[in-house]
Amino acid sequence: MSEPRKITIFDTTLRDGEQSPGCSMNLTEKLELAQALIDLGVDVMEAGFPIASPGDFEAVREISSTMKGTTFCGLARCSDKDIDRAWEALKHAERSRIHVFLATSAIHREFKLKMTREQIISRAVEGVTRAHNYCDDIEFSPEDAARTEHDFLCEVVEAAIAAGASTINIPDTVGYATPQQMGETISMLFNRVPNIDRAVISIHCHNDLGLAVANSLAAVQNGAGQIECTVNGIGERAGNCSLEEVVMAMKTRQDFYNLETNINTQRLVPTSRLLTSITGMNVQRNKAIVGQNAFAHEAGIHQDGMLKERTTYEIMRPEDVGLSKTDLVLGKHSGRAALGDRARELGYHLTGEQLQEVFEEFKKLADKKKEIYDGDIHALIQARIHGGGESEHGWSLVAFDVKSTSGKTPVCKLTLSRDGKEFTEEVAEGDGPIDAAFWAVEKITGLEITCKDYQVRSATLGRDAIGEVLIEVEYQGKVFRGRGTSTDTVESTIQAILDAVNRIENRS
Ligand code: KIV
Ligand code: ZN
Repeated sequence: MSEPRKITIFDTTLRDGEQSPGCSMNLTEKLELAQALIDLGVDVMEAGFPIASPGDFEAVREISSTMKGTTFCGLARCSDKDIDRAWEALKHAERSRIHVFLATSAIHREFKLKMTREQIISRAVEGVTRAHNYCDDIEFSPEDAARTEHDFLCEVVEAAIAAGASTINIPDTVGYATPQQMGETISMLFNRVPNIDRAVISIHCHNDLGLAVANSLAAVQNGAGQIECTVNGIGERAGNCSLEEVVMAMKTRQDFYNLETNINTQRLVPTSRLLTSITGMNVQRNKAIVGQNAFAHEAGIHQDGMLKERTTYEIMRPEDVGLSKTDLVLGKHSGRAALGDRARELGYHLTGEQLQEVFEEFKKLADKKKEIYDGDIHALIQARIHGGGESEHGWSLVAFDVKSTSGKTPVCKLTLSRDGKEFTEEVAEGDGPIDAAFWAVEKITGLEITCKDYQVRSATLGRDAIGEVLIEVEYQGKVFRGRGTSTDTVESTIQAILDAVNRIENRS
C-alpha cells in the first residue's frame, strides 16, 4: 500500500458549533476550548464569524493573536464590510485564513439572495479578490453546494480559484446529500474544473439525515483533502460532521481508506468532555467514540470473548481515544500537584490561582466523599472556572433554608451577596422547593426569568455523588444557561439559577 494521504482537519466548533442554540460560550470558555483544540492537533480552527457580533470579533481577535500552533480562520460573507472585519480580527495571527461564502443553489439564489447566476459569480470573485488582498490563505464556500446545479457549481468553483481561493469548501448546508452522491459531486469537480489542482477541496456536512460522517468520508475517498467538523458533532439543527467519529473512522480503517490526520486521538475524549462541561450539552450515552457506553461491554458473551481476546469485540482501544481505564483517581490525601496533573489530563489549563481555588473545593469535597472520580473533578472545575453561580461582580450564594412539606406551600429563605453586600428574602411561593428557590432569586435580583429546561444528573457514581444541575432560562426573549454543582441538589439548583442570572447581567 502507498503512503497514507494526509487529510486536513478544519475544526468549526467555535463557529458553526457555537452558533447552535444552547452552545454559546463566553470569551473565557472559547479561549479554553481553543487551547484544547490546539492540543488536539486541529490543522485549522475556525474561531468565529467576526462581523456577527462584538463578542465574536473579540473572540477571533483574542484567540488568533494570543495562541499559536494552528491556522486561525474567520468567516465572512462576500461583502466588503464582512471581509474587512474578518481581517481586522485575524491580522495579528501567526497563520490566518479568511473563509468567504456565498450561496449558489437555485433555491438560495431565487428566494434568499434574489441574484442571477452572473451576479453570484461576480460577487464571489469580488469577495475572494478582496480577501486575497489581505492574506494568501483564502477559503471559498459555495453555500448549499450539495443542491447546486453541477454546471453552475463548476463555473463558480473555477472562478473562485482563478480569483485566488486556495481551498474550495463544498458545504452540504442542509444535510441533504447521500454518500454516493457526495462522492460523485467531488469526483465530478475533479473531472470538470480545469484549475482544480490549484486548490484543496474541502467538505462540510450537516447531519440532518444522520449522514454527515458518511458523506465526509465519501468526499475524501474521492479526492477531498480537508474535512470540516466539530467536537461532539455540535452545530445547527442535527449538527455537523463529528470530529471524533470521522477521525477515528479514518484511523481505525486505515487499511481501507489509506488516509491519516494530525489529530492526537488520545485527546478526543478529554476535548469532548471539556466541551460538554462548557456548554452543558451532554452527548448521548451510546454516541460513537465519546459516549459513556462507547466502550462498555454488557452482554456476558461479549465479556467472555473480551477476556479471552480483546479484539473479539473491540475495534479500537479505549486508551487510543483518551479514555482512562479507571477514573477512580484522587482522595483526601491527594495533593495540589496530583489534582493539577489530573486536571491537565482531563483537558484543562488552569492558572495557579484557578488551581488553588479548585484545590480548596476539592479538599472540602474529599471530607464529604471518600473517592473523587473524574466526573467530580470536571464538576468542581466547571463550578469554579465557568461560573457555577459566581463571578467577580455577580451574585453569589451565602445561605439558604428551604422547607418542603407535603400538602403545604414550600418556603425558601435565601441570602445572596453581591459586591460585598448581603440581601435576604423569604418567600412562600411555588409548587415545590425548586420553584420556591426561583421565586426567591427573582425577588432579590429583580429579574423575571422563565425556566425552559431543568436537568439534574449525578456527576459520578454513588449516593454521595456531586449533583449537577443544568438549567436554561429565558429572559427578554433570549435563552441563557446556568450550571451548579454540589452534593446538595437544592444548593446546585440555586447556583445554577445564579449562574444564569450572572450571564444575563453580563451579556454583551
Ligand atoms: O453549512 C454551511 O453552508 C456553512 C458555510 C458557511 C460553510 O456553514
Ligand atoms: Zn455549516
